[in-house]
Amino acid sequence: MIVCMASGNGSNFEAIVKSGIKIDLVITNRPTARVIERAKKFNIPYIFNSVEYEECIPKDTKLVILAGFMKILSKEFVNKYPTVNIHPSLLPSFKGANAVPQALDSGVKIAGCTVHWVDEGMDTGKIIAQKSCVVYEDDNEHTLHARIHELEHQIYAQTIKQILRTL
Ligand code: GAR
Repeated sequence: MIVCMASGNGSNFEAIVKSGIKIDLVITNRPTARVIERAKKFNIPYIFNSVEYEECIPKDTKLVILAGFMKILSKEFVNKYPTVNIHPSLLPSFKGANAVPQALDSGVKIAGCTVHWVDEGMDTGKIIAQKSCVVYEDDNEHTLHARIHELEHQIYAQTIKQILRTL
């Protein structure tokens, strides 16, 4: 089974599905997450659980894909289930929830996104792939995040396909 966990919009989830990767289940911790509508659109089952989301994972899960899942998973969970994440910065810079504003505040001229394995830390796992973009003088959080999102939609599906070939 391939499981996607998401807390919000779900545009990465949709890009992954549209790339031809078969997602078997969506787990969300937020009842209003737009990813639920997207899962319904593709007839993919979903589970909402705001607290015990780790317990919702089927035992035969071979890959967990985090797509805007804004919770830290336990060490036991990530040791048991190979878990990948996409993060909107060039890690190890700008970890955490506000990566794009952090990048703008710091004045960096290059931003981007990172696909990484998930460990028990926050955005600390081994880096698998990265893609970069220019930061323009007049960028704001919205414009820069939109540019990063475009990169994410390409690199995440490509990287997951590579990972699935090795599992
Ligand atoms: C993405 O930009 C993803 O990198 C970020 O949340 C957004 C989710 O967008 N994840 C994190 O910040 C994790 N620390 P989406 O719901 O449209 O896929």
